Amino acid sequence: MGEFRIARDLLGLEDAVALVTGGGSGVGRGHGLRLAQAGCHVAIAELNVEAGERTAQEIRGLGRKAVCLRADVRRNCEVKALVAAVVSELGGLDVAVNNVGNPLSIGPFLDYTEEQWDAVFALDIKSTLFCCQAEAIAMIERGVPGRIINVSSSSGIVGAPSVSAYGAAKAGVIHLTKSMALELAPYGIRVNCIVPGTHMTESIRATLESGGPQADFLRAAAKATPMGRLGDPLETGGVAVFLASNLSSYMTGHSVISDGGITHTTNRPPVGAPVRPKALAHVGGGN
Ligand SMILES: NC(=O)c1ccc[n+]([C@@H]2O[C@H](COP(=O)([O-])OP(=O)(O)OC[C@H]3O[C@@H](n4cnc5c(N)ncnc54)[C@H](O)[C@@H]3O)[C@@H](O)[C@H]2O)c1
Repeated sequence: MGEFRIARDLLGLEDAVALVTGGGSGVGRGHGLRLAQAGCHVAIAELNVEAGERTAQEIRGLGRKAVCLRADVRRNCEVKALVAAVVSELGGLDVAVNNVGNPLSIGPFLDYTEEQWDAVFALDIKSTLFCCQAEAIAMIERGVPGRIINVSSSSGIVGAPSVSAYGAAKAGVIHLTKSMALELAPYGIRVNCIVPGTHMTESIRATLESGGPQADFLRAAAKATPMGRLGDPLETGGVAVFLASNLSSYMTGHSVISDGGITHTTNRPPVGAPVRPKALAHVGGGN
């Protein structure tokens, strides 16, 4: 038998430059670490600079370049400045993971105010549009066959009480990914999407430890998941590596679900504690 060697260009990510928004903690930190292990230099975009710097430090410990750049991705001008800073500090932009979002934005739709609805959409989908625009322009200007990876949620696929705004925004991210992929294919840029189920992030762990009603949901979610547990951010970081790498070179516009199988079941518990909408305080019925 001949000598076995892993092909060097299997992933094609050595010295590629990756941007991960919200990479200071949670699922984003998982993307950043896994991309660095696969060979990328990584820029972390964060509102929480301390957390972002911690991830950047971990990445430098892996022998890759890393910077943490402060940006609020809900603001288009900050996103444009962020992408310019990544290019100038790390020498280009090959891979972008648009990860910022808040899986804990919940509440009955009957009680949503216009401001609350707009706030969820600003964070969970408008930021994705701004990031994709600035990233794609930077890639096209430099003739880079870029890879853009958006982050949705199982709540964007499966309906559940209490996640109407978040679920609608995340369903929008899946659809936006398809349209963007078609518009960017002529430039050699691939756009795909990761759809995580519930993961054991720092905030999810804190919610679990708080012992409140949302902790009951998280325990039920772990139990209802066919794999019997919540996800580890590093596991879904592996999906980011796949979508960024040569291994997925014929994929664009698609969404990959990383959820331990929960979206296949009818067993999914309602998200959050059951809440009687304030808007119905004056009528009977319901639960
Ligand atoms: N954690 C889960 O179980 C889960 C499940 C499904 C989908 N997701 C999705 O995965 C992504 C990451 O979720 P997470 O749970 O890791 O979140 P998280 O709250 O743990 O981390 C988000 C990070 O983004 C940063 N951030 C927040 N707003 C920002 C802004 N406006 N600009 C720049 N940075 C900002 C925060 O400082 C934080 O470090 C989100 O899109 C979320 O919807 C998460």
